[in-house]
Amino acid sequence: MPESITITDNRTGDAIEIPILNDGISATEWSKLLPGIWFYDPGFMATAACESAISLLDGDVGILRYRGYPIEQLAENSTFLEVAYLLLHGELPNESEFEAWQLDITYHTFIHENVRKRFLEGFHYDAHPMGMLVSAVAALSTFYLDAKEIFNRDSRQKQITRLIAKMPTLAAAAHRFSVGMPFVYPDNSLDFASNFLSMMWKVAEPRFEADPVLVHALDVLFILHADHEQNCSTTAMRVVGSSHADPYSATAAAAAALYGPRHGGANEQVIKMLMEIGHIDNVPAFIEEVKGGGGRLQGFGHRVYKSYDPRATIIKRTADEVFGVTGKNPLLDIALKLEEIALQDEYFLSRKLYPNVDFYSGLIYQAMGFPLEMFPVLFAIPRTVGWLAHWQEMLDQDSKIARPRQLYIGPDARDYVPIAGR
Ligand code: CMC
Repeated sequence: MPESITITDNRTGDAIEIPILNDGISATEWSKLLPGIWFYDPGFMATAACESAISLLDGDVGILRYRGYPIEQLAENSTFLEVAYLLLHGELPNESEFEAWQLDITYHTFIHENVRKRFLEGFHYDAHPMGMLVSAVAALSTFYLDAKEIFNRDSRQKQITRLIAKMPTLAAAAHRFSVGMPFVYPDNSLDFASNFLSMMWKVAEPRFEADPVLVHALDVLFILHADHEQNCSTTAMRVVGSSHADPYSATAAAAAALYGPRHGGANEQVIKMLMEIGHIDNVPAFIEEVKGGGGRLQGFGHRVYKSYDPRATIIKRTADEVFGVTGKNPLLDIALKLEEIALQDEYFLSRKLYPNVDFYSGLIYQAMGFPLEMFPVLFAIPRTVGWLAHWQEMLDQDSKIARPRQLYIGPDARDYVPIAGR
């Protein structure tokens, strides 16, 4: 059997055979037969916009791999910085490569004083930290003018390092500002996750010592959130990057896409939903309300996963470890009951709606003391790695500027009528 399809234009009888390559067919071939006839695909439900070698997601069986490595093995054995190197370079680092990478990230954690003093402190006192982060990342492009040299490999690598290293510093600065606490400078003797926790929580102690269980849990959460192929924010990164904008501007666009409740804001919505339900006895009624069209079960469902999200399985285990230190999040019982009922209910089963990564991550963040507003920020820190890996891959592929077509449904040509005559 040939691995191809044949399309016939019934208006003319002309046909074209198009090979199936990597589970896709080329739209360029299609256009040879049908110029000016476009695929109508809102939300890109059936469109592959690029070739990518970074992560593989098989939603039917719940598989996620970074550069071929199963997410379960990376979460169990690796560290976030090692995974970051893997995503960016395609291979796990050897010892000296890792040492150099760790040192590089550690020594780029500081932000320009003007970013903090003049820029971040200029926000309104109750500014949302994610809004602050998006703006601050965009502002970084004005500090690093070499960022525009996107085809200079050294410059590109420098911006990638800066962005990954400075993200936790900006994130913690946004939080400290929103609670009226003084900024904490990075402590370069600490690892990535410990340093972030120090910048978040340090008060007057000379050195902040985070609980190692919580440091490990955060590192695992960072690994799980580091990449997820062509999701909304990564697509935003590629679209903006395709115009050859600098990486800070493109990353700010990606972070803005992550801000929405359908994407990185979902774990915040999960906690709000659980608080609204209030008690385990109210769960059945809430499920009925969702089924009747009264809102969505937040943290459930996914565009690609049509079985259990593998990240949710790992997170559920991590939650137990965290609750061993922090005490159980009182909302956990409501979440477990919701999951139990939903996974036996025809409405959710027939639509293949299972818990996604956000269903349990918010419970962990809340137990660790992070305010709800910080949840999307906590997602943005590790996802920066994925965004940059895709940005770099896209530039190396010499891709075209993103510019989809539309099916015009507006009025036909008509003449302008002066205002007095309307
Ligand atoms: N609760 C109840 N019903 C749902 C849900 C849900 N969470 N998600 C989808 N449905 C129903 C939806 O009403 C529709 O039913 P019907 O066929 O009767 O109209 C059907 O399932 C298909 O839904 P859809 O909106 O066409 O699916 P989608 O692939 O466009 O949406 C989604 C995916 C993630 C936006 C959606 O499932 C959702 O809104 N979930 C809740 C928010 C959430 O948890 N988001 C985090 C996603 S994972 C993290 C990330 O990648 O950022």
